[in-house]
Amino acid sequence: MSSWSGGDAESVAVPCEGPVARHLLPDSAEVTASGRLEIGGVDLESLADEFGTPLFVYDEATLRARCRAVVRAFGPGSAYATKAFLCRAMAKLAIEEGLRLDVSTHGELGVALSAGAEPGDIVFHGNNKSDAELAAVVGLGTARIVVDSFDEVERLARLVDPRRIGSGQQVLVRVNPGIEAHTHEFIATGQEDSKFGFSLASGAAEKAIDALRGLRGVEVVGVHAHIGSQIMRLESFARVAGVLAPVVAARGLAELCVGGGLGVAYLSDEEAPTIEEWADAVHAECARAGLTPSVQVTAEPGRAVVATAAVTCYRVGTVKELAGIRNFVAVDGGMSDNPRPVLYGSGYEAFLPRCVGADRPYAARIVGKHCESGDVVVAEARLPGDVKVGDALVTPVTGAYGFSMASNYNRVGRPAVVFVGDGRARVAVRRETVDDLLRLES
Ligand code: LLP
Repeated sequence: MSSWSGGDAESVAVPCEGPVARHLLPDSAEVTASGRLEIGGVDLESLADEFGTPLFVYDEATLRARCRAVVRAFGPGSAYATKAFLCRAMAKLAIEEGLRLDVSTHGELGVALSAGAEPGDIVFHGNNKSDAELAAVVGLGTARIVVDSFDEVERLARLVDPRRIGSGQQVLVRVNPGIEAHTHEFIATGQEDSKFGFSLASGAAEKAIDALRGLRGVEVVGVHAHIGSQIMRLESFARVAGVLAPVVAARGLAELCVGGGLGVAYLSDEEAPTIEEWADAVHAECARAGLTPSVQVTAEPGRAVVATAAVTCYRVGTVKELAGIRNFVAVDGGMSDNPRPVLYGSGYEAFLPRCVGADRPYAARIVGKHCESGDVVVAEARLPGDVKVGDALVTPVTGAYGFSMASNYNRVGRPAVVFVGDGRARVAVRRETVDDLLRLES
């Protein structure tokens, strides 16, 4: 991914001067007769007034539709990768729609359980699970563990009771398939030089399956691979399925999980494959590889479920026009609510919710309020010519890895999260206050 480009590694960011593309907005988004944006039947400007800014606004209809699409396309054993966006409301929604929850820390597990997840809904990941985390998951009885290292196999041997009554501790083995995904190097995980999983090429994956099968009280149910995130090429996922299928067949395993990673469009000129197309590509390859239909083929997307469901609403605080250099439009958030531009050079669109359909001829860099120049929200934005201080300003496609990676840099409180639908807004997470920040201090 080149600097300040959009999602795909080879896309070149061409700022769009027309209105923001419809496919970047949540499913329920509508433009009123006066040109204002509504999501879930709620006016965005009114939300900003009522709940303050920055504000994450999630469209419940989009979230539910994407969860249902995953269940329909892959089947009920699939999971939602909670690292993309997690709060109790989201965990509850994903479970209601029939997904399991992929969690990878004690914290994610705690939120999932407090949202009402049953042990059997939990799939526990991580390349360095602590003893305490493993003990907590094993203690749940029917949660699954995706095993990532030989050290973890040893820890499991110590933790799992060999006389366990009923079914054993269900595990999947995370395989590194040796596939380079076309995405930013920080979020590519399937190449040989990776901290994740057991290499297939070196024989480590087969050894791990043997070692786990040798443990009493442990049941190997399948293999898993996750080659990276924001992947736009379906053939990469087909290759994963093609590499895993022979292992599943040879070992008589019940499940093949292709992980998450499906990309989404961030910029108006980008288009991403749908969840259905993703599943079709995976299923076609499994069939080609001769996998019997009795094998459960599952996935665990995060971004594809939540990214397009949300927008972030900011308030413009300053407009600085440096003649011959650049225009800076500063908003009241920044790298603390969306670190992706700084971390990966990710591109976003921006628009004003008071005139969604307006052309955007005004070139500006949208920056945040943090004390460094890298604090960029949209590097090469286009906005309506009459943008002014006090305007609400929206960046779409911020539902994934925004709130979940938010920080308190400069002691800024994390934004509130509201879910909208049927003309109503409900607060899923309230805004953090200075008192919240001080509560941890002695
Ligand atoms: N499964 C595993 C084992 C994962 O590690 C991940 C993401 C997923 C599933 C979900 O991947 P998704 O469908 O969301 O692509 N912070 C980065 C993304 C990091 C992804 C980490 N693992 C970003 O903002 O682009």
